[in-house]
Amino acid sequence: MQIVKTVEEVRAQVKAWKKEGLSVGLVPTMGYLHEGHKSLIDRAVKENDRVVVSDFVNPTQFGPNEDLATYPRDLDRDAKLCEEAGADLIFNPEPENMYAKDACTYITMEDVSLTKNLCGKTRPIHFRGVCTVVGKLFLIVAPDRAYFGQKDAQQLAVIKRMVRDLNFDVEIVGCPIIREEDGLAKSSRNTYLSAEERQAALILSKSLNKGRKLVEAGERDAKTVIKAIEDEIATEPMAKIDYVQIVNFDNIEDIDTLTGNILCAMAVYIGKTRLIDNFIMEV
Ligand code: PAF
Repeated sequence: MQIVKTVEEVRAQVKAWKKEGLSVGLVPTMGYLHEGHKSLIDRAVKENDRVVVSDFVNPTQFGPNEDLATYPRDLDRDAKLCEEAGADLIFNPEPENMYAKDACTYITMEDVSLTKNLCGKTRPIHFRGVCTVVGKLFLIVAPDRAYFGQKDAQQLAVIKRMVRDLNFDVEIVGCPIIREEDGLAKSSRNTYLSAEERQAALILSKSLNKGRKLVEAGERDAKTVIKAIEDEIATEPMAKIDYVQIVNFDNIEDIDTLTGNILCAMAVYIGKTRLIDNFIMEV
């Protein structure tokens, strides 16, 4: 497995693979890989001849008061996981290789729920950063398929729309959330949690399960489901809700009556750590 730092090196390697007629899968990550990322790499390895994992903490998707400086990084550990999973190349650029000092071209969506609702409400520049870096990665790697986790469901919806609107020649593959045995969704940010907070964080999956069961039992009123989830979260004193919402998964618009492809999503602070979780259901 190769680890390369520059755009030119990735391009040269992918060109050589394509010349041989090999298909290429891309797994975009910000590193500090866990089982969730591994499931994406496993799937990419199954479905493509060669797999590129990008490992880049993308500065443009972090707001001024967010955790860019403290975001966990460990390339050696990531390389071991990628190698074991059967990836062929890690692209690990420095920020200055990805963004020229005077870069002024970004991918921004119009004023739509896709990027303004849910996480977009408190993270106004986040999806501009995500779209820009993912768009750049698509142009650099030119993959046949790209793999994204459903834990970041809004991100998945945004990327699908960007690919459709801008005619990127790549198939987007969404992959299920990977959880710890006790239900906590795997996340690089779980490392911020103390033992006590780690226990309190179970309230996310527990309350979502409650909501899911209500919908499975036939409840179709969004407010009723949201209230049941919020009441459950309120039983955990360390939890502070950022949002609990139910939206249409395709356009991230709020819905009153549950019908179609729905996304029930939450962001909850456990201490200083903001965690997200969700379920998607066809109703
Ligand atoms: O999901 C992530 O880790 C990031 O948002 C992504 C897609 C790698 C872009 O930086």
